[in-house]
Amino acid sequence: MELRALRKKAVAWFQGHGRDLPWRNTSDRYAIWLSEVMLQQTQVATVIPYYHRFLERFPTVSDLASADLDEVYQLWAGLGYYRRARQLHAAAKMVAEQHNGTFPSEPKDVHELPGIGRYTGNAVLTFADDARLPIVEANTQRLYSRLLRWKNDCSTQESQKVLWDFASQVLPKGAGSGQLNQALMEIGSQLCLPKNPHCLLCPLIKLCPTYAHGEQSLIPSPKKPKTYTDLVETALIIRDPSGQLLVRRCSASERWAGLWDFPRFDTTKCKTQSTLQKTIAEFVRARFGCGIHLGKQVHQLKHAVTRYRITLTCFEAELDESQAGFSAPEIETLWVGPSQMSGLALNSSAKRLWNWLQKQRET
Ligand code: ADE
Repeated sequence: MELRALRKKAVAWFQGHGRDLPWRNTSDRYAIWLSEVMLQQTQVATVIPYYHRFLERFPTVSDLASADLDEVYQLWAGLGYYRRARQLHAAAKMVAEQHNGTFPSEPKDVHELPGIGRYTGNAVLTFADDARLPIVEANTQRLYSRLLRWKNDCSTQESQKVLWDFASQVLPKGAGSGQLNQALMEIGSQLCLPKNPHCLLCPLIKLCPTYAHGEQSLIPSPKKPKTYTDLVETALIIRDPSGQLLVRRCSASERWAGLWDFPRFDTTKCKTQSTLQKTIAEFVRARFGCGIHLGKQVHQLKHAVTRYRITLTCFEAELDESQAGFSAPEIETLWVGPSQMSGLALNSSAKRLWNWLQKQRET
């Protein structure tokens, strides 16, 4: 591979065609880190307004470190994957305490921060400081596998080594790694698309063996389909006599840690209506310390979390005040009315359920 030609062509194309994105006009490691975390599972167009709002409210790492996590969640609401927000906040605290509020510039310090993997840490340092560090994420992985005509599954250890080695070799010896990394990522995201890549517009067309062999649809090799486990869960819409609903905050060791949810539990093993009703009553008593009158099933929705495919059945229930006096719940709970509910950071399926409930009230 003619690496010198590759660098020159990639950078020249980027200078003429690269998008003007807000995190490309700064060398603030904190701002670039924030953009990378937001971009992890979210598209550029969605991220831009969140990025501006977040930096306006928390202009420095120290501002973020001293914020309440709930406020961070509020600014994150709609981006999903709240774990990212939590880790960002935890890492900001570490930066404030251990690095005097300056995002570190040494790779080993950066990689000790929670939630910062090899890609994100290197991306921050190469984009902000022009550090000579390789990056491989989805876009560059696709581009590099095609430039190498690498036909194996990219997720294996061997493939990852090949791709990261290439990402290192491609970097110039002197200055310019940051811009080259940006350029290659942009070519990956704008031209070297998974399906029907724009090869005829690509500055690297003459260097690409995958194009020469017409193998764009074979490389990178398709991922193995995920294997899912199906679960049935039950969520309860429990009303007290004043019409407020019971919600609980997910604890640190659970999925959706820190976010709010309706009372919910796994009922995959409940095969009959009567075991379901009994399980529900016992669960509510043990976890929430109250009794209920179970009503009817009102809604059902499907969602996926990691390797689980969940069918969530939703029942209405009323608080039975005659059954008071069970032990106090160890979990954080709230009774909330509609206006308070909108201010809570709900997990995504709870938010869907809440939106559905509001629509029912309107019709
Ligand atoms: N996706 C991940 N990081 C990105 C970046 N810096 N610019 C555009 N898209 C990205």
